[in-house]
Amino acid sequence: MGHTEPTTFYDQHPFDWVPPDASEPIDSTVLRPLLDLIESLDTNSLVLDIGCGPGRVLGVLARRGIRCIGLDRSRVSVGLAAERYHRPGVVGDNLRLPFADGTADVVISDGVIHHTENPQAAFAENCRILKPGGRMYLAVYKDFGRYPWLYKYPGALIRSGLRDRWAGPLVALFAQLPYFLVHFVRSRGRRTWTGARNLFYDYFVTPHVAFLPRGVVEEWCAREGARVVLYEKNRGANVHSFCLVKDSRSQPVRDPQLPFATEALVEQKRSAV
Ligand SMILES: C[S@@+](CC[C@H](N)C(=O)[O-])C[C@H]1O[C@@H](n2cnc3c(N)ncnc32)[C@H](O)[C@@H]1O
Repeated sequence: MGHTEPTTFYDQHPFDWVPPDASEPIDSTVLRPLLDLIESLDTNSLVLDIGCGPGRVLGVLARRGIRCIGLDRSRVSVGLAAERYHRPGVVGDNLRLPFADGTADVVISDGVIHHTENPQAAFAENCRILKPGGRMYLAVYKDFGRYPWLYKYPGALIRSGLRDRWAGPLVALFAQLPYFLVHFVRSRGRRTWTGARNLFYDYFVTPHVAFLPRGVVEEWCAREGARVVLYEKNRGANVHSFCLVKDSRSQPVRDPQLPFATEALVEQKRSAV
């Protein structure tokens, strides 16, 4: 896989904050628009979770017996997801997905494209692998609310502190520890130190972040022949959600030289699900 990095940020800090045991119900970590979409699926739908991380959403799909495959650039995350939820996982890049055009009934992209080097290209790839008439759930960082400010200002201090050998312990004491305590209290004691630490890194330290206005996403949808059927601001969350349907007359517009995946690979994955 040409674009796969040997070690990614999320290999070192996987988005791993929900313990795989039942101490924090996994469904409660999924936003309502995605849960509604999942609840509307039948078990024969093929769902591709692009940027699946350690499998939080794959777990919700797997529990309902829905056929699904996870893909992530982080090998560590794909390994955790496969080990926990026994669904096939692929290490690959959202910017060059190893799936043929029109493969998926449903594509899930939950908090992913804003971390890629080119969110629009990642979105176009998600559309390409979706069947005409297929559905996509997309959640991206809002361009409004408190998070853009937090990432930019306190986040800049934290990132520069972590690069400095002497300031590192100060970041742990004055930023990471209070962050953990807030999460610990809010989760009624369920959030672990490691879980809060992984969230902290995703929140403040992650190297690529784009804040995407609703209008921009709608423009991309129009270009790719997709229609927004539901928009949700998700009050209190950092992401806004879009549910899309790909136009049933939509023709694939490009024919990327796929590095390895073909219908055959997908068939093979299907039989493994
Ligand atoms: C914030 S996490 C979200 C994980 C998961 N979707 C969830 O909601 O639990 C972002 C994930 O996107 C993945 N990611 C970032 N850039 C990527 C890319 N270019 N291709 C594939 N995955 C990518 C990261 O490795 C990470 O696991």
